[in-house]
Amino acid sequence: MPTAVSLFTGCGGSDAGLVAAGFDVLMANDILSYAAEVYTANLPETDYRVGNVEKIKAFPRADLLVGCYPCQGYSQGGAREVGRDINYLFREFGRALRQIKPKAFIVENVSGLTREDNKFLFQMQLRNFRAAGYRVTWKLLNAADFGVAQERHRVIIVGMRSDFGDSYEFPEATHGPGTTQPYVTIREALDGLPEWPAGEFNDEPFHWYYMSRNRRRDWAELSKTIVSRARHMPLHPLSPKLVPAGKDKYVFETDAPARRFSYREAARLQGFAGEMAFPDSCGMFTRYKVVGNAVPPPLFEAVARSLPPNIW
Ligand SMILES: C[S@@+](CC[C@H](N)C(=O)[O-])C[C@H]1O[C@@H](n2cnc3c(N)ncnc32)[C@H](O)[C@@H]1O
Repeated sequence: MPTAVSLFTGCGGSDAGLVAAGFDVLMANDILSYAAEVYTANLPETDYRVGNVEKIKAFPRADLLVGCYPCQGYSQGGAREVGRDINYLFREFGRALRQIKPKAFIVENVSGLTREDNKFLFQMQLRNFRAAGYRVTWKLLNAADFGVAQERHRVIIVGMRSDFGDSYEFPEATHGPGTTQPYVTIREALDGLPEWPAGEFNDEPFHWYYMSRNRRRDWAELSKTIVSRARHMPLHPLSPKLVPAGKDKYVFETDAPARRFSYREAARLQGFAGEMAFPDSCGMFTRYKVVGNAVPPPLFEAVARSLPPNIW
């Protein structure tokens, strides 16, 4: 079984994908203890070290290194300040890469990283990883194309250690137009879940900002992107339709009750299989946060499965 080390692990969307692809995740790390609690409730075998990655002196040897370093500086939902220290945590990933020297690595990040104004940060990352001795390639992928019931565009960077002759080919879409399978819909993803799961969804009032855009998709559609902020979570399709009522303003078509997706529904729409375990110590807003920050496991699984099997 090939082995992996996971950094910036959160609740482990990336790692659930790795496990499904047949990897043994030896070590994981995140600064958030509640992310670790959710992770270990679901993947108890991994040695999960809680704390700042900068404090980890020695990483275990592994075949694969993965990491989804934070994106606050360049994501839609973040403060988008180019100079923030948090934008430079990729150097910690580079440090681990130089120490572990895995056969390959995978990084996931928000699509905003490839935007013109972030280009120099993106180029710095690619240069850092190439200088560590890796042939690096990247691509923007949509999780929906890999059987996730959600539009979620992410940049994936893959590196192969230079002493391997093989190059990396990104996976082809398995779902949607031009493939043999239709997109997975919200209805299919939420199959079997209760309609009004009391205590599992954020029922704060809908703020003017929330109502400034259409947050609803129908049962037979893909979900809008699942976010980490419970306030901004898209609407469940049981909610009435939203109709335009002026510039940046939407109103509900009827007075029927409306609600956001619950954190459990959000997990399904992220592609977490079955019932995700949430420890009692972890409150509703933190559940939403770790789930919304996660990499959809089927997307990460598809990327990991496309690594040439002969290198392990
Ligand atoms: C995009 S999320 C990762 C999601 C995760 N890969 C998943 O699939 O669930 C980025 C993570 O980086 C973590 N992080 C931020 N700064 C960190 C630091 N200095 N040391 C360790 N983890 C950090 C955050 O707490 C957050 O969970």
